[in-house]
Amino acid sequence: MQIAVPDGALVVLVGVAGSGKTTFAARHFGPDEILSSDAFRGRIGSGESDQTVSRAAFAVLHRELAKRLGSGRTTVVDATNVTPWARQGLLRRAVAAGRPAIAIVLDLPEAICLGRNAQRAADRAVADVPHAAIRRQSADLGRSLRDPGRLVGEGFSEVVRLGTPDAVDAVEILRIPDGRIGTAGLGRAASPGSAGRDRGLLPLTERSNREEPDRTMTPRRPRSG
Ligand code: CTP
Ligand code: MG
Repeated sequence: MQIAVPDGALVVLVGVAGSGKTTFAARHFGPDEILSSDAFRGRIGSGESDQTVSRAAFAVLHRELAKRLGSGRTTVVDATNVTPWARQGLLRRAVAAGRPAIAIVLDLPEAICLGRNAQRAADRAVADVPHAAIRRQSADLGRSLRDPGRLVGEGFSEVVRLGTPDAVDAVEILRIPDGRIGTAGLGRAASPGSAGRDRGLLPLTERSNREEPDRTMTPRRPRSG
């Protein structure tokens, strides 16, 4: 699947621990385009898994995001983003900068994510993300996806849901130079979807729309968020 990403857009990765967000970001984007909650935890706190500094890490991430989008730099946010609350904060930055926001949802079976977490912990001698935390994230993600159209309703101009490792592997990111399509604002008219599809670029996506009370953003697990 090709995903059109206009220059200057916000790309929000969504997925539980072990779904492959960091791997995906590294494969498709430059290191200078990625804002990772884990990396900010590592800079501010004792390490990437230091949950005690989550609040500060996200504050810095958001500040950086606002600056980047304001100056027209494509930015990928690598954090779980499984709650409406977490996504809304990011979307506000995109709206403020007049940039489209694209959600890429790594919606893999929980068993795969649990397996990858265990493997990663073994490979890197780091703490495993507790299963209970992954299950909570899965539940949050499930609520976010239950109603097709929900994420579009939140303000994403495109939502791409990838449900299998093969689907994730098949992704190709198509950069759309600024100016080739309207990217001045959020919404369908400004999204790569309409223009992209017209040029045969995009078989898309899943859309959703459902209201849900905000939830706390503080991640409850020892890694990433
Ligand atoms: N992995 C894999 N095959 C993939 C993607 C990821 O084997 N196609 C492995 C990675 O090498 C890593 C683990 O699965 O050991 C988790 O992937 P990662 O990208 O780190 O997942 P994240 O979603 O970033 O997890 P977290 O939220 O905990 O940062
Ligand atoms: Mg990660």
